[in-house]
Amino acid sequence: MSIQIAPSLLSADFANLERDVLRCQNAGAEVLHIDVMDGHFVPNITIGPLVVNALRPKSKMIFDCHLMISNPDQYVSQFAEAGADWISIHVETTNHLHRSIDLIKKSGVKAGAVVNPLTPLTTVYDALEYLDFVLLMSVNPGFGGQSFIPSFLKKCETLKTFLVKNSLDNIAIEVDGGVKLSNVRDVVSAGASIIVSGSGLFSGNLEQNIQEMKNAVIDL
Ligand code: DX5
Ligand code: ZN
Repeated sequence: MSIQIAPSLLSADFANLERDVLRCQNAGAEVLHIDVMDGHFVPNITIGPLVVNALRPKSKMIFDCHLMISNPDQYVSQFAEAGADWISIHVETTNHLHRSIDLIKKSGVKAGAVVNPLTPLTTVYDALEYLDFVLLMSVNPGFGGQSFIPSFLKKCETLKTFLVKNSLDNIAIEVDGGVKLSNVRDVVSAGASIIVSGSGLFSGNLEQNIQEMKNAVIDL
């Protein structure tokens, strides 16, 4: 399986975003995970399309915009125009998942659906044929630095098995929340191939942590 490491911008130094994005890129991270929070769906407020647009010319990394916002349909085109490569929306935020995915696809970017830790996987099963990836939360969305919820591993295995059984395993599983060097092998063994990590990479030596995380899963 080819694994992509996605440092979460939420843990970067917000006064030095360009510097930290380039540090991630130069250390070999393939994806930049950008957490968009609205203070409504989740308690925190973070990044909007203006910041994505400002960072876009600075980096070649895949920009992975994780929308933790109510009414995501309203903002999809703005994030796509700002330079997102992937846009994911929470299934808990839309009444019309097919329409929302369609909107993302029509804006020319890859589409992901996100499920919270206790949102059943069945909420995305019917949508799988339209999706490029599924993002499984391993913490409750809203903040960096939270502890990994262990039930994630079983849920991820269940989804992976379902994807393989239905010849849908071209759809990637992304994991987000509490992933560190200590549990990344478990997460990849459970079926995830896009690994988001914020505090796990930005605490201490970022470049070394990215390299160690890549090496930790190189044989899986
Ligand atoms: C949480 C965000 C995560 C967060 C992960 O709501 O979606 O992307 O930045 O941070 P860590 O890896 O510190 O849990
Ligand atoms: Zn995220």
